[in-house]
Amino acid sequence: RTVYLNGEYLPETEAKVSIFDRAFLMADGVYEVTSVLGGKLIDFDGHAKRLERSLGELDMKAPCSKEDLLQIHRELVARNGIEDGLVYLQVTRGAPGDRDFAFPDPETTEPTLVLFTQSKPGLADAPASRTGIKVISIDDIRWGRRDIKTVQLLYPSMGKMMAKKAGADDAWMTEDGVVTEGTSNNAYIVKNGRIVTRSLSNDILHGITRAAVLRFAREAQMEVEERDFTIEEAREADEAFVTSASAFVLPVVQIDEAVLGDGAPGPVAKRLREIYLDESR
Ligand code: PDD
Repeated sequence: RTVYLNGEYLPETEAKVSIFDRAFLMADGVYEVTSVLGGKLIDFDGHAKRLERSLGELDMKAPCSKEDLLQIHRELVARNGIEDGLVYLQVTRGAPGDRDFAFPDPETTEPTLVLFTQSKPGLADAPASRTGIKVISIDDIRWGRRDIKTVQLLYPSMGKMMAKKAGADDAWMTEDGVVTEGTSNNAYIVKNGRIVTRSLSNDILHGITRAAVLRFAREAQMEVEERDFTIEEAREADEAFVTSASAFVLPVVQIDEAVLGDGAPGPVAKRLREIYLDESR
């Protein structure tokens, strides 16, 4: 696989980053994941805009222009012959040459920019999209700036492991009984045809897929309510689903012990998935 590191396209084994890189020592970096379907980048613009915002919130320098980023994405997709898959992008505050809590001087420390592709043949036709997934609920103990897409992903990783151990596929996180989001996706419930999802704040990531799906839902005259919902309300919902760049719209058929509806993906989730894939490709 060919990867990109600070201006160069390299075989993955030759891409080397300093041990003093701030992301390695302090999780001082931000990232984006953009999906590729049929060789086409999905929602690149949204991801580029959110990256810009994440960088700004952390006083980090942009490594290059948006146009350059698009070019690098396209080049990697072409070089690696990606039909269906993902492009991972990470920007870190760079490697100042020693460990120090204070941010290094941006005049002397350049950001580290890394991109690589992941090939996922049949990404849009994942078996889970037909069966739906089971989620467990866990406490959301992450920090208070979840709107910034940082590489601080230890708790989401632990959440996925807790789910696996419980025989589930993923976890939804809750704060005072209210659902924030999934470990790597935004969370939704459907009751009497109405789609409910938490509103945007510093408490959740402002999903790029979320924005597109809510727009498509409204265009299709579906009812959308952006508000808090509790895990109890979720367990009593008619259906549920999650959205993310890698899962698109994925039905949820069980939350903790509660099986939703007849235990199969619901009509709203199925329809939204179809619309999303049709409109994005
Ligand atoms: N995760 N919430 C969290 C905590 C996420 O990590 C993600 C994305 C989302 C959905 O955002 P978007 O629709 O922009 O992908 C919501 C990516 C896919 C990941 O970490 O791999």
